[in-house]
Amino acid sequence: MTTTDRCPVAFPLRRPGRPFPPVEYADFRRTEGLVKSTLPSGVPVWLVTRHEDVRTVLTDPRISSNPSHPGFPRAAKTGGVPSQDQVPGWFVALDPPEHGRFRKTLIPEFTVRKVREMRPAIQQIVDARIDALLAAGNTADLIADFALSVPSLVISDLLGVPHVDRDFFEAKTRVLVTLTSTDAERESATKALMRYLNRLITIKQRRPGDDLISRLLADGTISRQELTGVSMLLLIAGHETTANNIGLGVVTLLSNPRWIGDERAVEELLRYYSVADLVAFRVAVEDVEIGGQLIAAGEGIVPLVAAANHDGTVFDRPDEFDPERSARSHVAFGYGVHQCLGQNLVRVEMDIAYRTLFSRIPTLELAVPVEELSLKYDGVLFGLHELPVRWSSTEE
Ligand code: HEM
Repeated sequence: MTTTDRCPVAFPLRRPGRPFPPVEYADFRRTEGLVKSTLPSGVPVWLVTRHEDVRTVLTDPRISSNPSHPGFPRAAKTGGVPSQDQVPGWFVALDPPEHGRFRKTLIPEFTVRKVREMRPAIQQIVDARIDALLAAGNTADLIADFALSVPSLVISDLLGVPHVDRDFFEAKTRVLVTLTSTDAERESATKALMRYLNRLITIKQRRPGDDLISRLLADGTISRQELTGVSMLLLIAGHETTANNIGLGVVTLLSNPRWIGDERAVEELLRYYSVADLVAFRVAVEDVEIGGQLIAAGEGIVPLVAAANHDGTVFDRPDEFDPERSARSHVAFGYGVHQCLGQNLVRVEMDIAYRTLFSRIPTLELAVPVEELSLKYDGVLFGLHELPVRWSSTEE
């Protein structure tokens, strides 16, 4: 066993010009034991970077997702994973067995079959966004006008959130995923979202619709109060993550067009970019050994999914985009009981988005050199701030 104490990894995690994880990750994976680092919050944590160790952390019952345990880490100076007192029903922050009630109730809504049934509605949303792009001219910011709007509209329809409120919930979510937001900004964004969803739930109690919030109200397994946190988690998790992956994927597919329309490309893009690298926070509730490292009860742990997904012992030439590899064992959606509930939906959204975008706008190209794209280094999610594109004005 070792007690490795290394220099902190430089946060933010990614470097200009490098689409994949920091160079330090490769070094950390080779290190005996784990690497002690300091998050932007100043909190010391154990960074877990090997694929096998990440999976172990995410499945060991002595390691908790619940921020009410002493020592639970947070990424930014402010905020962090909310407790049940702050946001009741924020079930990603619960351990089994409490977590199971939420998961069991929600799983049937996100099965492969259920998501397949959503395909026509998702296709309609994608088509309408592309109609709007084409009607507006021959240039666009593909993040704001497509990559963000598609998953936002999809999750809104699923939950029963009115489309007109998109700007509101996107802006509040951005505050919550940005590392530099202040305490006051976060508190106000959380409260505004909770107030908004509370009002929406009250409306749906009076007039139920054909949407997930109404179905959960009728089911009753999740209480009225918990439903606020559940819908907030789904709304937040459901758009920003997918938007980042759609945007980055467009850049990659533009220079690898033979993979457009191939489902293997979607899986490889999820692995390659691993946008949710800094999302799964944990704390040891008992002493536990991971990867030859003793972690004491009360110490924070951060399994870095991008590091695991670039582990050369599992993925050959990990920093290359190669859809021919089998990427299915990636952990971009996490692993174990908290593995992403929306993953089937994400795959369908990405598949429809790429197929439709490139077939309807075949002359699509970047409007700036790839090195000038503005990558996100200030948040818990990796992505692009903007994606300026253009196409021939004779399109369609
Ligand atoms: C590219 C898109 C996405 C990525 C990379 C992603 C990634 C992740 C990761 C890494 C986790 C695990 C967190 C942990 O272990 O603490 C997670 C959990 C979760 N995700 Fe996603 N996600 C994406 C899209 C979505 C979408 C579209 C939805 C909603 C429809 C969603 C809903 C959730 C929920 C509810 C959880 C918590 C599950 C639980 O605790 O049981 N995600 N996601």
